[in-house]
Amino acid sequence: MAGYTDRAFRHLCKENGADVMVSEMVSADGLIRNTKKTIPYILFDDLERPFGIQIFGSDPYIMAKAAELCLAWNPDFIDLNMGCPVKKVVRKGAGIALMKNPVLAEEIVREVGSVIEKKCFLGAKFRSGWDLTSLNYLDFGLRLQDAGADFLCLHPRTHSQMFSGKANWSHITELKKQLSIPLIGNGDIHIPEDALKMYEETGCDSVMIGRGALGKPWIFNQIHQLEKTGDYTPANRQLILETMFRHIDLATHFKPEDVAVKELRSQLCFYTKGIIGGAELRQAINNAISAEQIKELIKNCEGLKY
Ligand SMILES: Cc1cc2nc3c(=O)[nH]c(=O)nc-3n(C[C@H](O)[C@H](O)[C@H](O)COP(=O)(O)O)c2cc1C
Repeated sequence: MAGYTDRAFRHLCKENGADVMVSEMVSADGLIRNTKKTIPYILFDDLERPFGIQIFGSDPYIMAKAAELCLAWNPDFIDLNMGCPVKKVVRKGAGIALMKNPVLAEEIVREVGSVIEKKCFLGAKFRSGWDLTSLNYLDFGLRLQDAGADFLCLHPRTHSQMFSGKANWSHITELKKQLSIPLIGNGDIHIPEDALKMYEETGCDSVMIGRGALGKPWIFNQIHQLEKTGDYTPANRQLILETMFRHIDLATHFKPEDVAVKELRSQLCFYTKGIIGGAELRQAINNAISAEQIKELIKNCEGLKY
């Protein structure tokens, strides 16, 4: 997730049981034209594997060039973003705009596939369609499969829905029935039970978690525990506090402290939802200027004392 799943957060998720991870989406254009500025977004290390780099764009040639550049880092897969509904992406014909132009989307898969040459896997992530009157996820998914994608991921909302309303998991069920390549289901997995429910209801091969991991990266361990034992350990104050501290340490390890502190403001607020004194803590963190100061504020929060 752009703005959130940076290296610090990915390391945190890995330590908390995440199996496979993917970079924030990166502009193919940016990678080629502004390589120095964009490269930091695709950097990863072996601890993050299996790891994919996600690129977005609308020009098959530029997408292929960007994928070729990514190969130098030896990712386990390249993921093509064909689902982003954000204006500045759609305006350029990228993200979900490609669902209005399936022939171009196919061409992108073919071009990128031809430079990857099976050196890593190739996936694509998309939505149900532009709006409820133009649901084309079945046709779109089959076209991408035929064009050479190794796996697909469906977030069953439309462009018009953005992130609101409910993800329509029946679209995952329908697409899974038609595909011969693996399908990842995505959308509205907020608690561990949701993940098992998605597997059961849709028959998907894997599940992808976005917002459900923000402020609760332990959700991955909980899902594994639930799968194995039928139950899981709920997060307690100690886990929340220790995870927040670890998040801060990782953030300042990977980025300069002033940058990390600014970014942590939006990331840490997810841990404090529903906690006694959470609103006050969020406000205080927003004014903090160092990692140590943030830690001190967290330690003194009523709802996090144990
Ligand atoms: C802030 C934010 C940033 C996102 N960035 C990306 C992105 O870079 N690439 C992507 O494929 N999806 C991105 N998404 C979409 C999520 O990956 C996911 O498809 C969507 O949130 C639904 O899943 P969820 O209910 O598990 O969050 C983003 C979502 C949010 C809220």
